[in-house]
Amino acid sequence: MLKVRVLDHPYIQVVLTTLRDKNIRQIEFRKAMVRLGRAMGFEITRDLELERVEVETPLGVKTEGVRFKDMDKVVIITVLRAGMPMTEGLIKIFYNARQGVVSARRVEEKGMRADKTFDVEITYVRLPKISNEDTVIIVDPMLATGSTIREVLKIVLSKSRPRKVFVVGAIATPLAIDRVREVVEEYNLDATIYTAAVDLTVNEKGYIVPGLGDAGDRAFGE
Ligand code: URA
Repeated sequence: MLKVRVLDHPYIQVVLTTLRDKNIRQIEFRKAMVRLGRAMGFEITRDLELERVEVETPLGVKTEGVRFKDMDKVVIITVLRAGMPMTEGLIKIFYNARQGVVSARRVEEKGMRADKTFDVEITYVRLPKISNEDTVIIVDPMLATGSTIREVLKIVLSKSRPRKVFVVGAIATPLAIDRVREVVEEYNLDATIYTAAVDLTVNEKGYIVPGLGDAGDRAFGE
């Protein structure tokens, strides 16, 4: 089943507004994407299981608290290159995560098909071993048509069956959500999309409207 969580924390919405602003410089954009990843990471931990633990304080008193049960069973997969700054933020929260990368590119030269999908070219895949106890976090800031995430999901699922899949983006469209849902249902996954906003439209070039432009170009300076 696919759940969708739009993270409306004020801090996240303030950072998203900065990212949408076409007048910020490359370095400000990149730093804001790192901040967004970290802030979204905080919110995402709400969906991790906690377990009760007892600790003794320096006063020699025992007290009950909590810790994350499966923090060492997280794998972050970054979609290169746009996902890199968000991962930099997320890794501050998921500090024990193993990491993988998938280099994926929409083949924009061929144009968008009538059904608003793109061919996706995968040029590099490097994933750690993923067990069926792991939670896999796939990071791609712009979930526009869903074409890239679908391909990445299929690569992950061709080698493993993680316990949970989290897809993390800055902005998602209903089209992308529906297309990810198809794969999630086909494979009977427990999956959640976390996004800071849902924007309704994709233009004729496959860009999200209002969106924030090309996340890779803006973060890396093109
Ligand atoms: N990728 C981007 O970087 N931006 C979009 O709007 C869509 C895909």
